[in-house]
Amino acid sequence: MCGIIAYNGKNQALPILMAGLKRLEYRGYDSAGVGVVSEEGISVVKREGEVSLLEKELKTSDTQGSLGIAHTRWATHGEPNHGNAHPHLGCEGKIAIVHNGIVENYKALRKMLIDKGHEFRSKTDSEVLVHLIENFLYREKSRPSGYPRENPRGLRMQSPGVGELGREKLEQAVRSTLKCVEGTFGLAVIFAESNKIIAARRGSPLVVGIGDGEMFVASDASALMEHTKKVVYLDENELAVVTKDSYRVSDLEGNCVGKEVKEIRWSLEQIEKGGYKYFMQKEIFEQPEVVRNNLRGRLKSREIKLSVDVDTSRLRKIVITACGTSWHAALIGKYLLEDLCRVPVEVDYASELRYREPIISKDSLLIAISQSGETADTLAALRGAKRRGAQTLGIVNVVGSTIAREVDSGIYLHAGPEIGVASTKAFTTELSSLILLALYLRNNYMGTPPQEKPPELGLQKPRRLGNAAASIRKSPGFKKLCKELSSIPLKMETVLEYTKPVMEVAERFEDAHDFLYLARGINFPIALEGALKLKELSYAHAEGYPAGEMKHGPIALIEEGTPVVFIATTSKTLDKTISNMEEVRARGGELIAVVDEESEGEVGDLAQHKFIVPKTPEVLSPLLTVIPLQLLSYYIADLRGLNVDKPRNLAKSVTVE
Ligand code: M6R
Repeated sequence: MCGIIAYNGKNQALPILMAGLKRLEYRGYDSAGVGVVSEEGISVVKREGEVSLLEKELKTSDTQGSLGIAHTRWATHGEPNHGNAHPHLGCEGKIAIVHNGIVENYKALRKMLIDKGHEFRSKTDSEVLVHLIENFLYREKSRPSGYPRENPRGLRMQSPGVGELGREKLEQAVRSTLKCVEGTFGLAVIFAESNKIIAARRGSPLVVGIGDGEMFVASDASALMEHTKKVVYLDENELAVVTKDSYRVSDLEGNCVGKEVKEIRWSLEQIEKGGYKYFMQKEIFEQPEVVRNNLRGRLKSREIKLSVDVDTSRLRKIVITACGTSWHAALIGKYLLEDLCRVPVEVDYASELRYREPIISKDSLLIAISQSGETADTLAALRGAKRRGAQTLGIVNVVGSTIAREVDSGIYLHAGPEIGVASTKAFTTELSSLILLALYLRNNYMGTPPQEKPPELGLQKPRRLGNAAASIRKSPGFKKLCKELSSIPLKMETVLEYTKPVMEVAERFEDAHDFLYLARGINFPIALEGALKLKELSYAHAEGYPAGEMKHGPIALIEEGTPVVFIATTSKTLDKTISNMEEVRARGGELIAVVDEESEGEVGDLAQHKFIVPKTPEVLSPLLTVIPLQLLSYYIADLRGLNVDKPRNLAKSVTVE
């Protein structure tokens, strides 16, 4: 995720900002930049790639000044390149900002600002913030003279400094800006004409560090803790004005807010992992937040907003390809797309698809799913489908990655960097993206003849295809599903609040060698995913199967005490699953069941161990049922003393065959 560090004090800002950026490197980033206020104005230097490259660049610069901001960027809108890196300057170069978060309504704001004469230099959503502030501060109508020019390498921009601006005016301009913004921000702003930093937070953390004659603002305490342990955490919709020896916090209306100064007691390592022992654990617990980010701006009460470009009039078949955990998401995608859109879907391992002679043509849509966007097999399968004339769509986390660049259009996960090798939060955001896509395509299908039979949401009686799109958008099924989807992050939080039963099961089976994971329907891929997580993290043997297949082989593995994990949430096949559980129990297997509040009663005492998740429609249930299984693998691996973040023989990004 993006990182922010800002400094205002008695020392040269640059070395402090660079040290802060290095501390933020662990969060993952694709470009970095600094902006320092000097006598000549604001000097900005930024670069794509590592902080060390930026540092090299700065060796030849004479950037002097004791007030500045710096940023590591993890791209969400606009590719990772130096133009899209932060800080961003306004047209006159008198204001610079660094921003974490997403400005959802940036397109409308950008258009409005361009109409007012503002000139944009990046493709980011963030840049609208600096132009808005500029607009409120200077009321510009057209592009002003003295617009800062980039040097030949496009790296440095200077602007003339002028006299001090009143505090009220600056604050008011930032406040007015933030009131226009839909979305999230952790924001730090500097001005050529002021000796203050203005920082603000909504949905993206910010902390003010209090030093001796120097003050800091950071997105993460690790960036400032070598200078001070005294901090003030900003809360939602708060704004801080920070001079070199004071800070003042207020709400967006300008009312003063009293804040408690806290003492950081964590070690640097603890802070980097957010207090968690491993990045994977942190990423599991981040899932409610990243799924919220994934849905933000896309899931509206009456429609789904996606920038995907699919010609559904010539769509006869969808092929989804991926590897590993992303392939499990693809399997769930098949259930979703076939259920909700009634379009035939095939799912293929990318390593198989690339070497087959698949029936893919102009009538096909190839969906490539990849966290990294660089997986060699997925990329090759995508290129093969393009050669055959298919339309292509990517579901990718890393912005600007090769797959993201080569698809016709796509959906970014907005999961932030995933550092643990075992994929967790990328998986759940792949699922939420697929649900959004299925709902979106379902609406687009409404004008065209059905492939098979009318769509069902599992929530309403099937409706006739051919109705106007608007009517389905208003239909109770669609609305109810959207509402249920919007409550998923909250339900994920509930699952993560009560992890004790999972820990107890992990302790019980710490030394077990063989596990079976069984489920039916849309949760069958979750059985596969649960087994994969356990294999890669704890090196135990685990197999995932459709529960109905048990009798055709895997049942032979069951002996006294074999741990068998069932997903037994409410579904149309729950009674069948319960029968399978009875068969396992009769052979001495020990049952661990993921149930919901309703199915818990039906499963009763049959399962010796139960993990309860909140009830949700079956099509959404994988978003919840996977979490206890991720935790189970994590706890078992940790109890075995294994390196959870870096399991043996595995790489985070598999860029070779
Ligand atoms: O980056 P991708 O999503 O394309 O990666 C695919 C697989 O390599 C990945 O999911 C792998 O299976 C993980 N280790 C699973 O935890």
